[in-house]
Amino acid sequence: MTADTASTSLPPAVASGGGAQPIPVYVWQVPVRLTHWAIVVSIVVASFTGFFIANPPLTLPGSAGRHVSLGLVKVIHSWAAIVLVAAVVGRTLWGFTGNRYARWSSFLPWNRQRLANLFRTFAFYTFLRKSPPPSIGHNGLASVTYLVVFCLYLLMILSGLALLSASAAATSYLRWFAFLQPIFGGLARARFLHHVGMWLLLGFFAHHVWSAFLISNVERNGTLESIFSGYKFIPRDQLDKAE
Ligand code: HEM
Ligand code: HEM
Repeated sequence: MTADTASTSLPPAVASGGGAQPIPVYVWQVPVRLTHWAIVVSIVVASFTGFFIANPPLTLPGSAGRHVSLGLVKVIHSWAAIVLVAAVVGRTLWGFTGNRYARWSSFLPWNRQRLANLFRTFAFYTFLRKSPPPSIGHNGLASVTYLVVFCLYLLMILSGLALLSASAAATSYLRWFAFLQPIFGGLARARFLHHVGMWLLLGFFAHHVWSAFLISNVERNGTLESIFSGYKFIPRDQLDKAE
């Protein structure tokens, strides 16, 4: 596999990457990074506000005007929801037009090489291997995990729309989404799944940040920084072997 080396956009001394010097590879395009961070912010804001919606204080001391009202919290939750929907739709479309590392086809272990990468990465995480297999884009295990995470985004959006359809004004277009209520088996279950989805996403958050630090440290290829800069630094001899 040939990688998208960044030879054209970097100083010649860096881009030529003589000997074992790592080659900068432009992996994450702007839409991937932008949607990643928009999703992160929306999840954090929606979790704080959602937790408050789920556990509202029944009584508060002092005059009502001195408190943040539940109404305001719900408005902030709605804005976080709008950002999440926009970013997920944007990232979904980019999966059909972006570079090879952004494409949906790169998320599935559809060939032997990717399947082997998935198992070897799993072996590394379970201490059966000393080093992870070389990867440029998402490794085989991460890409399958991200697919599950995208399903969680979908669960949050659909269960959220089911909940909204119940509380929206009678004339609101949000009422259209009432058809989702029976699909979830009623509002109570939609609410429960919306809540469970939040905890699964927060659990993923903790593991994800830990593994980004771990892989970045072990591979020393700038994985952690790549989600800010877009670049990873791959040893020249790995360019053709890595996924
Ligand atoms: C990952 C993002 C999200 C998180 C973490 C989250 C979290 C939560 C939580 C914990 C609750 C309280 C549920 C309960 O009462 O037990 C809640 C309520 C709610 N969420 Fe979300 N949510 C997210 C995204 C969304 C989206 C995308 C929508 C709309 C499309 C949405 C709409 C709602 C609505 C309508 C309620 C009920 C508010 C009420 O009781 O009036 N949420 N959310
Ligand atoms: C709620 C929190 C987060 C969620 C749900 C999340 C989710 C994701 C997803 C779905 C991807 C794949 C991106 C794509 O192809 O579109 C990704 C990649 C990545 N994320 Fe996050 N992320 C979160 C927080 C963070 C944080 C706080 C950091 C850094 C401190 C981070 C670092 C990274 C890195 C380095 C990658 C690329 C890893 C690779 O090479 O495969 N993420 N994240």
